[in-house]
Amino acid sequence: GKVGVLFGGRSAEREVSIMSGNGVLQALRSKGVDAHAFDPAERSLGELEAEKFDRVFIALHGRYGEDGTLQGALEQMGLPYTGPGVMASSIAMDKIMTKRIWLGHDLPTPRFLVLDAHASTPEQLRQVPDVLGLPLMLKAPHEGSTIGISKVNGYSDMQEGFALCAKYDDVVLAEEFIRGRELTVPVLGSGRDARALPVIEIRAPEGNYDYQHKYFTDDTKYLCPAPIDAALTQRVQQLAVQAFNALGCRGWSRVDFMLREAADGTQEPYLLEINTSPGMTGHSLVPMAAKATGMSYEDLCCEILQLAAL
Ligand code: DAL
Ligand code: MG
Repeated sequence: GKVGVLFGGRSAEREVSIMSGNGVLQALRSKGVDAHAFDPAERSLGELEAEKFDRVFIALHGRYGEDGTLQGALEQMGLPYTGPGVMASSIAMDKIMTKRIWLGHDLPTPRFLVLDAHASTPEQLRQVPDVLGLPLMLKAPHEGSTIGISKVNGYSDMQEGFALCAKYDDVVLAEEFIRGRELTVPVLGSGRDARALPVIEIRAPEGNYDYQHKYFTDDTKYLCPAPIDAALTQRVQQLAVQAFNALGCRGWSRVDFMLREAADGTQEPYLLEINTSPGMTGHSLVPMAAKATGMSYEDLCCEILQLAAL
């Protein structure tokens, strides 16, 4: 059947989505799929019906693509789509709601506070480090690709971090900083068939795995499978599947972790967030983990497409 590959879009991650979508489009075509590009920023969604697609591959990131709104429109059209459904997508797009759901399932996530991005008083800002310690993370809760995220080392950085968040959101997620290693785990499949791919460790220069390092520089090291022992690997993979199922995800997603390394050598994984339309660029992580199991980028795209549902 005819497949629409949705990419581009209107979010702050448009540029990333174009890289993901071009990769997916070429991969599906190389497998003989009748795949066509569709950019919701350039055409109205109503035109999807006229195209008579049998299913669509969502390669959009961020708002209006990954946040459940598009998924809702596709449900209304009866057009099967890749990745999680309406509710899981919208919860996952909100880092605060995601953490609340995980806590409700007794899954480990760093301690946090929620603050008003515009109306927090200096007094309120000063109290944040007292509760969460320093350094701490400030995050715009509804963005991706590290957009709107800053690391606060002292009270003087707080104002700047808040101003950055306020560009994107009305609330700020202030989160305890977990000192340790950065891990990510893709999950593929649905329900009881959901399975974790190999764990990837990300080593960015000076720990700055930000927008630039994610997509444009080559100085970040990726270790796949991550050099952690078998028991910890299993625990992290199990947590990834639990985190995926707790939100009711299906199809595919990528779960991001910090691994706390205490002075006594103990290692404890913490869930940061889940990405329900993960990057599929040349630098991206899900293709890297798939490759470690012998699955090509093209086969990965086909499997994700096969899992498309309503
Ligand atoms: N938000 C980007 C695309 C990712 O998580 O891969
Ligand atoms: Mg994300």
